[in-house]
Amino acid sequence: MKARIFYASLNQEAKCNTDGCSLLDASIENKIPHLHECGGNGKCTTCRVRILEGMENLTARSNQEAIMARNRKWDPSIRLACQCYVKGDVKLQRLFWSSAEVSKLQTETLPEGKAEERPIAILFCDLRNFTNLSSHNLPFDIAFMLNRFYTALGDPILMNNGIIYQYVGDEIIGVFGTAGGTREKNSLDAIRAAMGMRYALERLNRIELKDFDVKLKMGIGINFGLAYVGHLGHPTHRQFSVVGDPVNVASRIQAQTKKTGTHVLISNSVYRNVPETALEIGWTYHASLAGKEERVEIHELLGFKQMDLQLELQASLHLLLQDEDAFAALFYEKVFQKAPFIRNLFKNNMPDQGRLLTHMLGGIVYSLARPEHLILGLKKLGQSHHRYGVKDEYYPIVKEAMLETLPEVLGEFYTPQIKDAWSQALDFVTKTMKSWKEASSSVA
Ligand code: HEM
Ligand code: FES
Repeated sequence: MKARIFYASLNQEAKCNTDGCSLLDASIENKIPHLHECGGNGKCTTCRVRILEGMENLTARSNQEAIMARNRKWDPSIRLACQCYVKGDVKLQRLFWSSAEVSKLQTETLPEGKAEERPIAILFCDLRNFTNLSSHNLPFDIAFMLNRFYTALGDPILMNNGIIYQYVGDEIIGVFGTAGGTREKNSLDAIRAAMGMRYALERLNRIELKDFDVKLKMGIGINFGLAYVGHLGHPTHRQFSVVGDPVNVASRIQAQTKKTGTHVLISNSVYRNVPETALEIGWTYHASLAGKEERVEIHELLGFKQMDLQLELQASLHLLLQDEDAFAALFYEKVFQKAPFIRNLFKNNMPDQGRLLTHMLGGIVYSLARPEHLILGLKKLGQSHHRYGVKDEYYPIVKEAMLETLPEVLGEFYTPQIKDAWSQALDFVTKTMKSWKEASSSVA
Protein backbone atom coordinates (compact mmCIF):
# COMPACT_ATOMS: atom_id res chain seq x y z
CA MET A 1 0.00 0.00 0.00
CA LYS A 2 1.17 3.56 -0.71
CA ALA A 3 1.08 6.27 1.94
CA ARG A 4 1.11 10.01 1.23
CA ILE A 5 3.59 12.35 2.92
CA PHE A 6 2.56 15.99 2.79
CA TYR A 7 5.32 18.64 3.25
CA ALA A 8 3.43 21.58 4.77
CA SER A 9 5.70 24.54 4.03
CA LEU A 10 6.59 23.26 0.56
CA ASN A 11 2.99 22.43 -0.28
CA GLN A 12 4.30 19.28 -1.93
CA GLU A 13 3.32 15.63 -1.65
CA ALA A 14 5.44 12.48 -1.75
CA LYS A 15 4.36 8.89 -2.01
CA CYS A 16 6.00 6.01 -0.24
CA ASN A 17 5.48 2.29 0.25
CA THR A 18 4.26 1.46 3.72
CA ASP A 19 6.57 -1.54 4.00
CA GLY A 20 9.98 -0.32 5.12
CA CYS A 21 10.05 3.30 3.90
CA SER A 22 11.34 5.91 6.34
CA LEU A 23 10.30 9.55 6.07
CA LEU A 24 13.82 10.35 4.86
CA ASP A 25 13.59 7.66 2.13
CA ALA A 26 10.35 9.31 1.00
CA SER A 27 12.07 12.70 0.64
CA ILE A 28 15.03 11.27 -1.30
CA GLU A 29 12.89 9.12 -3.61
CA ASN A 30 10.61 12.04 -4.34
CA LYS A 31 13.55 14.45 -4.86
CA ILE A 32 12.68 16.72 -1.97
CA PRO A 33 15.85 18.28 -0.50
CA HIS A 34 16.15 17.03 3.05
CA LEU A 35 19.31 17.42 5.14
CA HIS A 36 20.76 14.11 6.31
CA GLU A 37 24.40 14.66 7.23
CA CYS A 38 25.01 11.20 8.68
CA GLY A 39 23.21 9.48 5.80
CA GLY A 40 20.28 8.20 7.87
CA ASN A 41 22.26 6.61 10.68
CA GLY A 42 20.40 8.41 13.49
CA LYS A 43 23.49 10.30 14.67
CA CYS A 44 23.39 13.89 13.39
CA THR A 45 19.72 14.91 14.00
CA THR A 46 19.75 17.15 10.90
CA CYS A 47 16.89 15.21 9.31
CA ARG A 48 14.48 16.11 12.14
CA VAL A 49 10.91 17.04 11.23
CA ARG A 50 7.82 18.23 13.06
CA ILE A 51 4.84 15.94 12.58
CA LEU A 52 1.74 18.05 12.11
CA GLU A 53 -0.73 15.21 11.49
CA GLY A 54 -0.64 11.41 11.42
CA MET A 55 1.79 10.65 14.28
CA GLU A 56 -0.12 7.38 14.78
CA ASN A 57 0.96 6.41 11.25
CA LEU A 58 4.66 6.30 12.21
CA THR A 59 6.61 3.67 14.12
CA ALA A 60 7.50 4.59 17.74
CA ARG A 61 10.84 6.14 18.68
CA SER A 62 13.81 3.75 18.67
CA ASN A 63 16.00 3.74 21.83
CA GLN A 64 18.59 5.90 20.08
CA GLU A 65 16.00 8.48 19.01
CA ALA A 66 14.40 8.45 22.47
CA ILE A 67 17.75 9.31 24.10
CA MET A 68 18.34 12.20 21.68
CA ALA A 69 14.83 13.51 22.22
CA ARG A 70 15.27 13.43 26.00
CA ASN A 71 18.70 15.15 25.95
CA ARG A 72 17.48 17.88 23.65
CA LYS A 73 14.09 18.27 25.33
CA TRP A 74 12.13 17.71 22.10
CA ASP A 75 8.39 17.69 22.34
CA PRO A 76 6.72 14.50 21.06
CA SER A 77 5.91 16.04 17.66
CA ILE A 78 9.62 16.19 16.70
CA ARG A 79 10.91 13.04 15.02
CA LEU A 80 14.06 11.94 13.23
CA ALA A 81 12.96 11.36 9.64
CA CYS A 82 15.53 8.61 9.16
CA GLN A 83 14.36 6.69 12.22
CA CYS A 84 10.60 6.56 11.76
CA TYR A 85 8.90 4.28 9.29
CA VAL A 86 5.67 5.06 7.55
CA LYS A 87 2.45 3.10 8.12
CA GLY A 88 -0.04 5.62 6.66
CA ASP A 89 -0.53 9.27 5.64
CA VAL A 90 1.55 11.93 7.43
CA LYS A 91 1.76 15.75 7.30
CA LEU A 92 5.13 17.21 8.31
CA GLN A 93 7.45 20.19 8.25
CA ARG A 94 11.23 19.92 7.80
CA LEU A 95 13.01 21.79 10.59
CA PHE A 96 16.32 22.50 8.87
CA TRP A 97 16.40 24.01 5.43
CA SER A 98 20.09 24.52 4.94
CA SER A 99 23.44 23.36 6.26
CA ALA A 100 24.05 26.89 7.55
CA GLU A 101 21.48 26.28 10.26
CA VAL A 102 23.13 23.15 11.59
CA SER A 103 25.90 24.76 13.62
CA LYS A 104 23.37 26.32 16.01
CA LEU A 105 22.53 22.76 17.13
CA GLN A 106 25.62 22.99 19.30
CA THR A 107 23.76 25.18 21.76
CA GLU A 108 20.96 22.63 22.15
CA THR A 109 22.70 20.58 24.81
CA LEU A 110 24.17 23.50 26.77
CA PRO A 111 22.91 23.94 30.35
CA GLU A 112 19.85 26.08 31.16
CA GLY A 113 20.04 28.76 33.85
CA LYS A 114 23.77 28.26 34.45
CA ALA A 115 27.00 28.35 32.49
CA GLU A 116 29.82 25.86 32.09
CA GLU A 117 33.46 26.63 31.41
CA ARG A 118 34.57 25.55 27.92
CA PRO A 119 37.72 26.15 25.85
CA ILE A 120 36.54 28.22 22.91
CA ALA A 121 37.80 30.58 20.23
CA ILE A 122 36.08 33.97 19.97
CA LEU A 123 36.12 36.15 16.88
CA PHE A 124 35.17 39.83 16.77
CA CYS A 125 34.70 41.38 13.32
CA ASP A 126 34.13 45.11 12.96
CA LEU A 127 32.79 46.44 9.68
CA ARG A 128 34.09 49.91 8.81
CA ASN A 129 33.01 52.74 6.50
CA PHE A 130 29.41 51.65 6.73
CA THR A 131 28.31 55.09 7.97
CA ASN A 132 29.57 56.66 4.70
CA LEU A 133 27.29 54.32 2.83
CA SER A 134 24.29 54.95 5.10
CA SER A 135 24.46 58.75 4.86
CA HIS A 136 23.98 58.59 1.06
CA ASN A 137 21.23 56.01 0.81
CA LEU A 138 17.58 55.41 1.79
CA PRO A 139 16.94 53.52 5.05
CA PHE A 140 15.24 50.73 3.09
CA ASP A 141 18.32 50.23 0.91
CA ILE A 142 20.54 50.35 3.98
CA ALA A 143 18.53 47.62 5.72
CA PHE A 144 18.77 45.50 2.57
CA MET A 145 22.52 45.98 2.32
CA LEU A 146 23.11 45.42 6.00
CA ASN A 147 21.33 42.08 5.68
CA ARG A 148 23.49 41.19 2.70
CA PHE A 149 26.63 42.01 4.68
CA TYR A 150 25.49 40.10 7.74
CA THR A 151 24.75 37.08 5.57
CA ALA A 152 27.96 37.20 3.54
CA LEU A 153 30.15 37.76 6.60
CA GLY A 154 28.18 35.41 8.87
CA ASP A 155 28.36 32.45 6.48
CA PRO A 156 32.10 31.83 7.00
CA ILE A 157 31.40 31.52 10.74
CA LEU A 158 28.63 28.97 10.15
CA MET A 159 30.62 27.06 7.53
CA ASN A 160 33.36 26.55 10.08
CA ASN A 161 31.18 25.06 12.76
CA GLY A 162 30.94 28.38 14.59
CA ILE A 163 27.91 30.09 16.05
CA ILE A 164 26.99 33.69 15.28
CA TYR A 165 26.78 34.91 18.82
CA GLN A 166 25.75 38.51 18.38
CA TYR A 167 25.52 41.50 16.11
CA VAL A 168 26.40 44.67 17.99
CA GLY A 169 26.21 47.74 15.78
CA ASP A 170 28.58 47.05 12.90
CA GLU A 171 30.20 44.19 14.78
CA ILE A 172 29.70 40.45 14.30
CA ILE A 173 30.81 38.05 17.04
CA GLY A 174 31.41 34.35 16.34
CA VAL A 175 32.28 31.56 18.80
CA PHE A 176 33.87 28.23 17.98
CA GLY A 177 33.93 25.05 20.06
CA THR A 178 30.98 25.54 22.42
CA ALA A 179 30.10 21.84 22.11
CA GLY A 180 33.67 20.53 22.34
CA GLY A 181 36.47 20.04 19.82
CA THR A 182 40.22 20.24 20.30
CA ARG A 183 42.07 23.52 20.90
CA GLU A 184 43.63 23.20 17.47
CA LYS A 185 40.33 22.56 15.69
CA ASN A 186 38.47 25.40 17.43
CA SER A 187 41.30 27.86 16.73
CA LEU A 188 41.67 26.75 13.11
CA ASP A 189 37.90 27.03 12.58
CA ALA A 190 38.02 30.64 13.79
CA ILE A 191 41.06 31.42 11.63
CA ARG A 192 39.41 29.89 8.57
CA ALA A 193 36.27 31.89 9.27
CA ALA A 194 38.33 35.10 9.45
CA MET A 195 39.99 34.36 6.11
CA GLY A 196 36.56 33.49 4.62
CA MET A 197 35.22 36.82 5.85
CA ARG A 198 38.04 38.61 4.08
CA TYR A 199 37.16 36.83 0.82
CA ALA A 200 33.50 37.70 1.37
CA LEU A 201 34.26 41.38 1.95
CA GLU A 202 36.38 41.53 -1.16
CA ARG A 203 33.46 40.14 -3.14
CA LEU A 204 30.99 42.57 -1.55
CA ASN A 205 33.23 45.46 -2.55
CA ARG A 206 33.77 44.12 -6.05
CA ILE A 207 30.20 43.08 -6.84
CA GLU A 208 27.51 44.55 -4.55
CA LEU A 209 29.21 47.91 -3.96
CA LYS A 210 30.61 48.35 -7.44
CA ASP A 211 28.28 51.29 -8.19
CA PHE A 212 28.69 53.01 -4.83
CA ASP A 213 31.52 55.32 -3.98
CA VAL A 214 32.44 53.30 -0.90
CA LYS A 215 34.90 50.59 -0.06
CA LEU A 216 34.10 48.66 3.09
CA LYS A 217 36.88 47.60 5.38
CA MET A 218 37.00 45.41 8.42
CA GLY A 219 39.11 44.46 11.39
CA ILE A 220 39.06 41.03 13.01
CA GLY A 221 40.42 39.98 16.41
CA ILE A 222 40.54 36.36 17.58
CA ASN A 223 41.26 35.04 21.04
CA PHE A 224 41.15 31.59 22.64
CA GLY A 225 40.52 30.69 26.27
CA LEU A 226 38.20 29.27 28.89
CA ALA A 227 34.86 31.09 28.81
CA TYR A 228 31.48 30.35 30.38
CA VAL A 229 28.75 29.18 27.99
CA GLY A 230 25.12 28.38 28.71
CA HIS A 231 21.56 29.67 28.40
CA LEU A 232 21.20 32.58 30.79
CA GLY A 233 18.61 35.24 31.54
CA HIS A 234 15.10 35.50 32.92
CA PRO A 235 13.50 32.02 33.12
CA THR A 236 10.98 33.08 30.43
CA HIS A 237 13.68 34.44 28.11
CA ARG A 238 16.92 32.55 28.37
CA GLN A 239 19.53 33.24 25.73
CA PHE A 240 22.66 31.53 24.59
CA SER A 241 25.44 33.44 26.40
CA VAL A 242 29.21 33.49 26.39
CA VAL A 243 30.94 35.36 29.19
CA GLY A 244 34.42 35.69 30.58
CA ASP A 245 37.75 37.39 30.22
CA PRO A 246 38.69 35.75 26.87
CA VAL A 247 35.65 37.45 25.29
CA ASN A 248 36.71 40.92 26.47
CA VAL A 249 40.27 40.29 25.30
CA ALA A 250 39.05 39.25 21.83
CA SER A 251 37.13 42.51 21.57
CA ARG A 252 40.20 44.53 22.57
CA ILE A 253 42.41 42.68 20.10
CA GLN A 254 39.91 43.60 17.41
CA ALA A 255 40.16 47.24 18.48
CA GLN A 256 43.93 46.99 17.95
CA THR A 257 43.41 46.41 14.20
CA LYS A 258 42.21 50.00 13.89
CA LYS A 259 45.21 51.37 15.76
CA THR A 260 47.73 49.31 13.82
CA GLY A 261 46.05 49.43 10.39
CA THR A 262 45.94 45.63 10.19
CA HIS A 263 43.14 43.31 9.02
CA VAL A 264 43.32 40.25 11.27
CA LEU A 265 45.05 39.96 14.64
CA ILE A 266 45.23 36.82 16.77
CA SER A 267 46.29 36.35 20.37
CA ASN A 268 49.27 34.22 21.25
CA SER A 269 46.92 31.56 22.69
CA VAL A 270 45.35 31.11 19.24
CA TYR A 271 48.77 31.12 17.57
CA ARG A 272 50.12 28.47 19.94
CA ASN A 273 47.16 26.14 19.30
CA VAL A 274 47.92 25.60 15.61
CA PRO A 275 51.04 24.09 14.03
CA GLU A 276 53.67 26.77 13.52
CA THR A 277 54.04 25.81 9.88
CA ALA A 278 50.36 26.40 9.08
CA LEU A 279 50.06 30.17 9.27
CA GLU A 280 51.56 33.11 7.42
CA ILE A 281 52.25 35.68 10.13
CA GLY A 282 53.11 39.34 9.42
CA TRP A 283 54.43 41.04 12.51
CA THR A 284 54.29 40.18 16.19
CA TYR A 285 54.11 42.79 18.95
CA HIS A 286 53.13 43.30 22.58
CA ALA A 287 50.20 45.58 23.45
CA SER A 288 48.67 46.91 26.66
CA LEU A 289 44.99 46.05 26.70
CA ALA A 290 42.47 47.65 29.08
CA GLY A 291 41.91 45.48 32.15
CA LYS A 292 45.14 43.51 31.63
CA GLU A 293 48.12 44.12 33.83
CA GLU A 294 50.62 42.42 31.57
CA ARG A 295 51.22 43.29 27.96
CA VAL A 296 49.65 40.80 25.58
CA GLU A 297 51.43 39.19 22.65
CA ILE A 298 49.57 39.67 19.38
CA HIS A 299 50.25 38.34 15.87
CA GLU A 300 49.13 39.70 12.54
CA LEU A 301 47.53 36.89 10.54
CA LEU A 302 48.08 37.07 6.78
CA GLY A 303 46.68 33.69 5.77
CA PHE A 304 47.54 30.03 5.40
CA LYS A 305 51.01 29.06 4.20
CA GLN A 306 49.63 26.45 1.82
CA MET A 307 46.40 26.18 -0.15
CA ASP A 308 43.69 25.44 2.41
CA LEU A 309 41.19 23.05 0.88
CA GLN A 310 38.27 23.97 3.12
CA LEU A 311 38.75 27.71 2.73
CA GLU A 312 38.90 27.50 -1.08
CA LEU A 313 35.79 25.29 -1.23
CA GLN A 314 33.91 27.55 1.13
CA ALA A 315 34.89 30.73 -0.66
CA SER A 316 33.81 29.38 -4.05
CA LEU A 317 30.60 27.65 -2.96
CA HIS A 318 28.40 30.75 -2.97
CA LEU A 319 29.64 31.84 -6.35
CA LEU A 320 29.04 28.38 -7.77
CA LEU A 321 25.56 28.09 -6.35
CA GLN A 322 24.44 31.67 -6.95
CA ASP A 323 22.26 30.23 -9.69
CA GLU A 324 22.17 26.60 -8.65
CA ASP A 325 19.81 25.53 -11.45
CA ALA A 326 22.14 26.96 -14.10
CA PHE A 327 25.15 25.33 -12.44
CA ALA A 328 23.47 21.91 -12.29
CA ALA A 329 22.14 22.17 -15.87
CA LEU A 330 25.60 22.99 -17.23
CA PHE A 331 27.20 20.20 -15.21
CA TYR A 332 24.74 17.51 -16.35
CA GLU A 333 24.99 18.74 -19.95
CA LYS A 334 28.72 18.06 -19.77
CA VAL A 335 28.25 14.65 -18.12
CA PHE A 336 25.79 13.53 -20.82
CA GLN A 337 28.00 14.90 -23.61
CA LYS A 338 30.89 12.81 -22.32
CA ALA A 339 28.84 9.66 -21.71
CA PRO A 340 25.35 9.77 -23.27
CA PHE A 341 24.46 6.33 -21.84
CA ILE A 342 24.49 7.83 -18.30
CA ARG A 343 21.34 9.83 -19.13
CA ASN A 344 19.35 6.57 -19.01
CA LEU A 345 20.18 6.07 -15.34
CA PHE A 346 18.22 9.19 -14.40
CA LYS A 347 14.49 9.12 -14.02
CA ASN A 348 13.21 12.23 -15.85
CA ASN A 349 13.05 15.49 -13.87
CA MET A 350 16.64 16.79 -14.13
CA PRO A 351 16.00 20.22 -12.51
CA ASP A 352 14.86 18.51 -9.27
CA GLN A 353 17.84 16.14 -9.51
CA GLY A 354 20.11 19.19 -9.97
CA ARG A 355 18.74 20.77 -6.79
CA LEU A 356 19.45 17.57 -4.82
CA LEU A 357 23.00 17.54 -6.15
CA THR A 358 23.70 21.18 -5.30
CA HIS A 359 22.06 20.72 -1.88
CA MET A 360 24.39 17.77 -1.29
CA LEU A 361 27.50 19.64 -2.53
CA GLY A 362 26.73 22.52 -0.18
CA GLY A 363 26.18 20.02 2.63
CA ILE A 364 29.54 18.39 1.96
CA VAL A 365 31.40 21.71 2.11
CA TYR A 366 29.71 22.63 5.40
CA SER A 367 30.17 19.21 6.97
CA LEU A 368 33.92 19.12 6.23
CA ALA A 369 34.11 21.26 9.38
CA ARG A 370 32.31 18.53 11.35
CA PRO A 371 33.54 15.42 9.52
CA GLU A 372 32.33 12.91 12.09
CA HIS A 373 29.05 12.48 10.19
CA LEU A 374 30.26 13.15 6.68
CA ILE A 375 31.85 9.76 6.04
CA LEU A 376 28.74 7.90 7.16
CA GLY A 377 26.63 10.13 4.91
CA LEU A 378 28.87 9.66 1.86
CA LYS A 379 29.00 5.89 2.28
CA LYS A 380 25.22 5.79 2.34
CA LEU A 381 25.17 7.96 -0.80
CA GLY A 382 27.62 5.55 -2.44
CA GLN A 383 25.38 2.62 -1.56
CA SER A 384 22.36 4.38 -3.13
CA HIS A 385 24.43 5.08 -6.25
CA HIS A 386 25.23 1.39 -6.53
CA ARG A 387 21.46 0.79 -6.48
CA TYR A 388 20.93 3.49 -9.15
CA GLY A 389 23.25 1.47 -11.41
CA VAL A 390 26.31 3.76 -11.06
CA LYS A 391 29.55 1.86 -11.71
CA ASP A 392 32.95 2.81 -10.23
CA GLU A 393 34.30 3.79 -13.64
CA TYR A 394 31.61 6.50 -14.04
CA TYR A 395 33.00 8.62 -11.21
CA PRO A 396 35.95 10.10 -13.18
CA ILE A 397 33.48 11.28 -15.84
CA VAL A 398 31.57 13.23 -13.22
CA LYS A 399 34.77 14.68 -11.79
CA GLU A 400 35.92 15.83 -15.23
CA ALA A 401 32.54 17.43 -15.95
CA MET A 402 32.57 19.23 -12.61
CA LEU A 403 36.09 20.59 -13.10
CA GLU A 404 35.12 21.86 -16.55
CA THR A 405 31.98 23.51 -15.15
CA LEU A 406 33.94 25.49 -12.52
CA PRO A 407 35.72 28.06 -14.77
CA GLU A 408 32.60 28.66 -16.82
CA VAL A 409 30.52 29.50 -13.76
CA LEU A 410 33.17 31.30 -11.70
CA GLY A 411 34.50 33.49 -14.52
CA GLU A 412 36.95 36.12 -13.17
CA PHE A 413 36.86 34.49 -9.72
CA TYR A 414 38.24 31.17 -10.96
CA THR A 415 41.74 30.38 -9.67
CA PRO A 416 44.09 27.36 -9.85
CA GLN A 417 43.67 26.99 -6.06
CA ILE A 418 39.91 26.60 -6.45
CA LYS A 419 40.42 23.99 -9.16
CA ASP A 420 42.88 22.13 -6.97
CA ALA A 421 40.57 22.24 -3.95
CA TRP A 422 37.53 20.91 -5.85
CA SER A 423 39.66 18.23 -7.51
CA GLN A 424 40.89 16.98 -4.12
CA ALA A 425 37.41 17.23 -2.60
CA LEU A 426 35.87 15.20 -5.44
CA ASP A 427 38.58 12.56 -5.04
CA PHE A 428 37.75 12.30 -1.35
CA VAL A 429 33.98 12.17 -1.97
CA THR A 430 34.37 9.54 -4.69
CA LYS A 431 36.72 7.39 -2.65
CA THR A 432 34.37 7.49 0.31
CA MET A 433 31.25 6.81 -1.76
CA LYS A 434 32.94 3.85 -3.44
CA SER A 435 33.97 2.44 -0.04
CA TRP A 436 30.37 1.80 1.06
CA LYS A 437 31.01 -1.96 1.22
CA GLU A 438 33.94 -1.61 3.64
CA ALA A 439 33.95 -1.22 7.42
CA SER A 440 33.30 2.41 8.47
CA SER A 441 36.84 3.17 9.71
CA SER A 442 38.67 2.34 6.50
CA VAL A 443 38.47 5.70 4.68
CA ALA A 444 40.89 8.29 5.99
C1 HEM B 1 30.74 12.74 -7.19
C2 HEM B 1 29.88 12.55 -6.33
C3 HEM B 1 28.39 12.48 -6.47
C4 HEM B 1 27.51 13.16 -5.69
C5 HEM B 1 27.85 14.12 -4.54
C6 HEM B 1 26.17 12.79 -6.12
C7 HEM B 1 25.00 13.27 -5.54
C8 HEM B 1 23.75 12.76 -5.81
C9 HEM B 1 22.56 13.05 -5.04
C10 HEM B 1 22.50 13.98 -3.84
C11 HEM B 1 21.53 12.34 -5.58
C12 HEM B 1 20.08 12.37 -5.09
C13 HEM B 1 19.62 11.03 -4.55
C14 HEM B 1 20.28 10.59 -3.26
O1 HEM B 1 20.56 11.42 -2.37
O2 HEM B 1 20.54 9.38 -3.15
C15 HEM B 1 22.06 11.59 -6.69
C16 HEM B 1 21.33 10.73 -7.48
C17 HEM B 1 21.84 10.11 -8.60
N1 HEM B 1 23.12 10.21 -9.07
FE1 HEM B 1 24.68 11.07 -8.14
N2 HEM B 1 26.26 11.92 -7.17
C18 HEM B 1 27.59 11.70 -7.43
C19 HEM B 1 28.12 10.90 -8.43
C20 HEM B 1 27.37 10.29 -9.41
C21 HEM B 1 27.90 9.55 -10.53
C22 HEM B 1 29.37 9.30 -10.81
C23 HEM B 1 26.83 9.12 -11.27
C24 HEM B 1 26.81 8.35 -12.56
C25 HEM B 1 27.50 8.66 -13.57
C26 HEM B 1 25.62 9.58 -10.60
C27 HEM B 1 24.34 9.31 -11.01
C28 HEM B 1 23.22 9.46 -10.22
C29 HEM B 1 21.92 8.85 -10.49
C30 HEM B 1 21.59 7.96 -11.66
C31 HEM B 1 21.05 9.25 -9.47
C32 HEM B 1 19.58 8.85 -9.28
C33 HEM B 1 18.71 9.69 -10.11
C34 HEM B 1 17.25 9.25 -10.11
O3 HEM B 1 16.79 8.58 -9.17
O4 HEM B 1 16.61 9.63 -11.08
N3 HEM B 1 26.00 10.29 -9.48
N4 HEM B 1 23.40 11.87 -6.81
S1 FES C 1 20.03 11.53 12.21
FE1 FES C 1 18.79 11.24 10.49
S2 FES C 1 20.20 11.63 8.92
FE2 FES C 1 21.43 11.86 10.65
